[in-house]
Amino acid sequence: MATPHIKGEKGDFAKTVLMPGDPLRAKFIAETFLTDAKQITDVRNMFGYTGMYQGVRVSVMGSGMGMPSMAIYSHELFKEFDVENIIRIGTAGAISEKLELRDVVVGIGACTNSNFANQYRLPGTFAPTASYKLLKKTDMVAEKLGIDLKVGNILSEDNFYHEFEDVNPSWEKMGVLAVEMEAAALYMNAARLGKNALAICTISDHLVKKEYATVEERQTSFTQMMELALGVAVELDKE
Ligand code: HPA
Repeated sequence: MATPHIKGEKGDFAKTVLMPGDPLRAKFIAETFLTDAKQITDVRNMFGYTGMYQGVRVSVMGSGMGMPSMAIYSHELFKEFDVENIIRIGTAGAISEKLELRDVVVGIGACTNSNFANQYRLPGTFAPTASYKLLKKTDMVAEKLGIDLKVGNILSEDNFYHEFEDVNPSWEKMGVLAVEMEAAALYMNAARLGKNALAICTISDHLVKKEYATVEERQTSFTQMMELALGVAVELDKE
């Protein structure tokens, strides 16, 4: 029962899938944190694995970069593989002075400059939001792990590079914390399909303060975020 972009049978993916952008990060998570990890898919080298974490079945798969890529994989996982929860774990660039490098940011909402929502033919503007259930559990696990979560609006942009200013400063005036490229599509797919989604991002660069995390700092904060997301998968399994 493969889909156009994912190899595998129904049931091969767990109820909860963690999605880093980079498929090699998915491989790293599977090899570092999961036991009995089995590779499910390698179509286009977008690797996906299912294994066990603290006695709970969890999957991890790359999303690729940008909303179209995230939208394809999350749509197929939700719709064809009966996945219930997708947690994006990625990096973001801070646009708020309130944030510091390596902060862990959760997008309670995801603004966007993409026209992804046009397909729904809504007579207004849709507000893509995170799953309250996933957010509540993430908050709980973060407290247990001693992670000071920053929760707020994020921005999913279609373009990483900008012709004029870095990111339009009007977003920051509206209280948007950080910019990345995938959450809004994930949240809209989840909304349309009645599923749960959340984006957790570590701040890898600060676009206003012009600060950039080192490779080592990125790795350490990414590891912390993985443990947070895996902890949420464990909590979700208790239901
Ligand atoms: N823009 C988009 N995505 C990102 C950025 C950025 O500046 N930093 C990390 N992910």
